[in-house]
Amino acid sequence: MTAGALTACVGRTPLVRLGRVVPGEAGRVLVKCEWFNPTGSYKDRMALAMIEEAERRGELEPGMTVVEYTGGSTGSSLAFVCAVKGYRLRVVSSDAFAAAKLRTMEALGAELTIVPSDRGRITPELMSRMVATAQEHAAEAGSYLTDQFHNRDSLVGYARLGEELLEQVDGPIDAFCAGVGTAGLAMGVSMVLTAAGSPTRIEVLEPASSAVISGEPPGAHHIEGVGVGVVPPLLDPSLYDQVRTVEENDARSMARRLAAEEGMLAGTSTGLNVAGASALADELGSACTVVTVAVDTGLKYLDGDLFAGSR
Ligand SMILES: Cc1ncc(COP(=O)(O)O)c(C=O)c1O
Repeated sequence: MTAGALTACVGRTPLVRLGRVVPGEAGRVLVKCEWFNPTGSYKDRMALAMIEEAERRGELEPGMTVVEYTGGSTGSSLAFVCAVKGYRLRVVSSDAFAAAKLRTMEALGAELTIVPSDRGRITPELMSRMVATAQEHAAEAGSYLTDQFHNRDSLVGYARLGEELLEQVDGPIDAFCAGVGTAGLAMGVSMVLTAAGSPTRIEVLEPASSAVISGEPPGAHHIEGVGVGVVPPLLDPSLYDQVRTVEENDARSMARRLAAEEGMLAGTSTGLNVAGASALADELGSACTVVTVAVDTGLKYLDGDLFAGSR
């Protein structure tokens, strides 16, 4: 193997079958293990695509500054890509997100602006203050706002994940489900499966306490990255079949079970994804195959309370 840029290590992650956390009569649940990406999250795919598509169009050039608002996963991935490629990165984030994510962004060279939260809660009001601050930074000359909630380049990155699923899954993919933040992952994968003629039922997942896509009012929760309190602009109703809500407690206990019973140390939104996939596999029955995604590594959540009750 010849040496190359570390960004070439994004993607081509393993797909594993869950053995213990899915009910006995349910179908098989396959999980794409995205913590194998360089910063431990599938956001590396979207960060690389957002930067390289902008470079390709000539909108981002050497010497410019990349600006983003993020809970930390996108920021860590952007910081990684910007460090490899030599761009300055300014990130607007908040103390509502895992301290490890904030430290990761800084370690990778990002300059952080922290917008204070109301007692660590992720609320729509917090998100709009973060966006406004990022827009102020982006107004400065030589800046490029990646603007993850409106950036369709992310779909290019997630399309590759969909293509990998088509290569890796033996037999039909009966259902695919994923929690929605920007909706980039769910839409990018759905586009590829739909275009390939895959007979896949696509479900998007959201926290029950902030079920905005289901038509409920926004509310607070502690599942980082999903349930942002608005219907994300990238969410295309023609690209999913149904929305399912998942109780935060079910997501959290599934994340703990995944670690202890499957050896899958992943984060809270992964717990949400697998709780949704497990319910779906139970409904569809033993002959079906349901695919979901392990979003990121649980190492990012060890400072918080997700695994605190595991001992
Ligand atoms: C930890 C985590 N889980 C899930 C998601 C949702 O992914 P997407 O934005 O592609 O909908 C995000 C995105 O911010 C995230 O950071």
